[in-house]
Formats: sequence, structure tokens, C-alpha cells
Amino acid sequence: MSVVASASASLALVKYWGKLRTGVNLPATPSLAISLDGLRTTTRIASETEGAAGDTVRINGTACPAQRFEPMIDRFRRRGGSTSRVTVESTNTFPTAAGLASSSSGFAALAIGLDAFYGTHLSRHELSREARQGSGSACRSVYGGFTAWETAADHAEQIHTADHWPQLRLLIVVLTRTAKPVSSREGMNATAGTSPVYRSWCRESQGIYERARTALDRRDLQALGTAMRESYLFMFSTMFTSRPPLIYWLPESLALIREAEDMRRDGIPVWETMDAGPQVKLLTTHDQVEAVRSRIPSAVPQASVLVSSVGGEPEVRDG
Ligand code: DP6
Repeated sequence: MSVVASASASLALVKYWGKLRTGVNLPATPSLAISLDGLRTTTRIASETEGAAGDTVRINGTACPAQRFEPMIDRFRRRGGSTSRVTVESTNTFPTAAGLASSSSGFAALAIGLDAFYGTHLSRHELSREARQGSGSACRSVYGGFTAWETAADHAEQIHTADHWPQLRLLIVVLTRTAKPVSSREGMNATAGTSPVYRSWCRESQGIYERARTALDRRDLQALGTAMRESYLFMFSTMFTSRPPLIYWLPESLALIREAEDMRRDGIPVWETMDAGPQVKLLTTHDQVEAVRSRIPSAVPQASVLVSSVGGEPEVRDG
């Protein structure tokens, strides 16, 4: 018996950065995200051979310690009334752990696959709750389209399907394929514990979120881009002011931030965001993709660019 599940990465327009102490991965800030059609994790779950001592997990062909995945696998196994051990094989269509949200699609695909494998038939909200316990942002990746995850909420919601704004595009500028030295989890915990501006970040992010959500509802790219920019810059302010400071940026990241500024000055509607890594993501519409793409090499000649639209409903099948 085996199943194959896939889910798309969730890119936050407004960031989740910081956890409440009252539960597992409960967010201290609200987030608003899009599902990236082009960045997908596919996970195959099969029965382990008879008598196997534990579950095995491989990501992009490399064996991983099962501890991070075991609690989720155990919960589904128990709910499904099974004792069957599993082999999990996961592959990403994009660089893992380089600030491209691989944990969001990874844990979402795992939860959806385990649900099918153990026959637990959870609702989308319950799957979101499960995925969250693996990685916070994964609670948004159990849906395609546009999602919201409110402060302290134990699951995310889909607020629009992809057809709400099919013209939106995200250009992901990959500056390095090296895995990041500090995970988002370590980074956000260090920030929450040591940055003197962390409390203002938590306070201000609600207003940023509300402005972004209204802009998204109205398909107002300028207002959405402006709120998105405020969110990531404020998030990074908490990192820069951590003790010790946490700096994910490369010189090339800043070169692109400046180039995006120049493009806006030249009338190209494009806004940038970044996550826990050096890559820069540029939000625009389909008719501007070539204009934006042609300006990237002058700032960063070596970068590779992935263009993604919004979409990415998860899928699951026997396999
Ligand atoms: C910057 O979801 O990877 O991408 O809950 O500890 O697993 P854990 O963190 P994770 O953090 C994502 C942080 C972010 C912003 C976001 O996706 O909202």
C-alpha cells in the first residue's frame, strides 16, 4: 500500500515570525500568504518492511533523522488505529532549506499523505492543525490560493482560491542554493528572546496584516506591495537587533532591493519580499514579468529566476 501527496510552498506576504508560549507553533503575529504553483513538494508514503524498528524519512534522496517527523506520523498512526511503520520519500522541485519555504510544503504534503495512508479522513482545518505542529507555515500549505493565519489560531483558512487574482506572479530570484545556517525556527526564537523591537513588531503586524488583507480583497497591487514590504522589513529589523544579530542577507539581496526601488521609480509595478534566507521574491503581474526579469541581471548577473503563479491546490492519489 502506498500513496503520493503533493503540496505547494506558502509564501508569506505578511510574515509569521514569533511564537506564543501557550502551544506548538502558535503564531505571535498574523500572516497572509499565497500558494506558489511552481514550488512543490511531492511525498510518497509506503508501508515499511515487516518487522522494521522505525519509520524512515528521505528528503531529495538523503536519509533524515526521523525525530522531527515521528510525532506527526505517530499521531496519524494512532488515530488510524494502525501499527504500520512507513517509509517517507519526499522531493522538492526547488532548493531545500534555502529560504524557499520547503518546510511549509513538506509538512503539508506529509500530513495529507499520512491522512490518506492511515485512512483518518480529516477535514481541511484538521489537516491544517496537524501540519502546523510540524512547521507553522505548513498550516497554510494544505490549501492552494490565498490563505490567512490569525494570531494564536491553531489552523489557517483559505480566504480566496487562485482564480481571485490569476494575473499575480512571483519571481523568485535564487542567489544561492546553499542551505541556510540558521533555521527559521532558531531565528525566530532567538529574535523573540533578545530583540528589543520584537514587541513592537508583534503590535504593528496586526495593522500591516489588515491593510494587506483589504488590498488583496480589492486586488490593489500597490497597497498590497507596500504592506508586504513593511512586513518583511519590520521582520528583518527584529533580526538585525537580535543579540547576536541575525543577518540572512547577502550583498546581492540588497542590490535587488535597490533595483526593485529603481523599477518602481521607472513605473514598473513590482514589490519585493524576503524570508529566512538571502533569496529575494518579486511580486508583480503577468504583463510585467519580462520587464522585471530583464532588469535582474544588472543587479545580480549570476542569479537564476523562477517565475510562479498562484495556485497549487494539494493533491493526493494512490501510488
Ligand atoms: C519567514 O514555518 O519555517 O517564512 O513554525 O518554527 O517551523 P516553524 O517556522 P517556519 O517559519 C516561517 C517563517 C517565514 C515567514 C512565513 O512563512 O510566514
